[in-house]
Amino acid sequence: MSNQALLEVRDLLVSFGGFVAIDHVNLTVQSGEIRCIIGPNGAGKTTLLDAICGKTPATQGSIFFKGLRIDSESEFKRTRMGMGRKFQTPSVYDDLTVYQNIQISVPKGQSMLSAIFNSDDQFNQEILEVAQTTNLVNMLDVQAGTLSHGQKQWLEIAMLLIQHPQLLLLDEPVAGMSLKERDQTVDLIQRISAIQAIVVIEHDMDFVKKLSGNVTVLHQGAILCEGLIEQIQADPRVREVYLGD
Ligand SMILES: Nc1ncnc2c1ncn2[C@@H]1O[C@H](COP(=O)(O)OP(=O)(O)O)[C@@H](O)[C@H]1O
Ligand SMILES: [Mg+2]
Repeated sequence: MSNQALLEVRDLLVSFGGFVAIDHVNLTVQSGEIRCIIGPNGAGKTTLLDAICGKTPATQGSIFFKGLRIDSESEFKRTRMGMGRKFQTPSVYDDLTVYQNIQISVPKGQSMLSAIFNSDDQFNQEILEVAQTTNLVNMLDVQAGTLSHGQKQWLEIAMLLIQHPQLLLLDEPVAGMSLKERDQTVDLIQRISAIQAIVVIEHDMDFVKKLSGNVTVLHQGAILCEGLIEQIQADPRVREVYLGD
């Protein structure tokens, strides 16, 4: 099954008391892929990630992760299977150092993880590597509360990476970042995509362009089109609902 998709969403429907937020969506993400999801406010982007990670139940349809059907599994189980979700607002522990924030993100007593970290040295090394990857290696002793907003976003990614996910779901990770931090985030995402697939929601077209992944456009809960950014930007339907306004 070498060509099995990492994530497969089939005919997904999510309705909130009759309001259809996700309308028969199909989405396939391969290992190593960077997938950007764009669309106007209220298009259903966050709800789609919520349904994938198990925060919101699917009303209809199915979701497969690593070939296993997961749409009835808990959010916790999906995390343990290798999904990492980053929400729109970063949530780090302000009073703890960067190091401690990463350290406490390793769930205790999970056989999978205790196998990965079989000594304190190795554990420490892992934290250093993750901090390196997320541009935080010089900030390890700094209290998280004093980080810039952008650095907090990176710390949250670090807290996910230490759990060795195979799929990262990032909801607007560059919101509130400076231009330089955005570019550094492009590099960060491209670096880690060798190991984990990434689904990223973003509004900033320039950022999406630089990421150069596949792009899915959501509109009113449904997929309007999919392709490379050049194709997306040339699509008159996209211009009408999104880029034009
Ligand atoms: N828990 C909820 N209950 C009712 N409606 C919701 C809920 N969550 C989202 N919605 C609605 O679903 C639509 C999609 O929202 P959302 O996924 O947050 O959009 P996006 O992230 O693309 O801006 C919006 O109209 C929003 O008001
Ligand atoms: Mg959203």
